[in-house]
Amino acid sequence: MTEYTVEFVGTGETITVSDKQTILKACLEEGIAQEYSCRVGMCLACSAEIIEGEVAQPAARGFTEAERENYALTCMARPQSDLKLERGVYPPSIEDDIASGAADTAAADD
Ligand code: FES
Repeated sequence: MTEYTVEFVGTGETITVSDKQTILKACLEEGIAQEYSCRVGMCLACSAEIIEGEVAQPAARGFTEAERENYALTCMARPQSDLKLERGVYPPSIEDDIASGAADTAAADD
């Protein structure tokens, strides 16, 4: 087992996570307010942008192949190096869904 440092940029929060542990599990144990919902890699609520480092996340089914390079599903991702992550940042495909959902809501209010 190897342990890595995971830093959440802009928060001052840094935790130690083993390569056998998911980042979300370590966050919950350390009291870090990482957002999540399904915990099985489907809802993408736990997404974070990978600023630096690598993760293993073969079960991150909600991401495209390209998104797996730049984003971590923290409920599935295990560190493979020291990491810098930005929490609450979603891939463009998800941001588009959020934007269109907001547009639908605005239209419904009219
Ligand atoms: S909590 Fe749903 S994908 Fe991670």
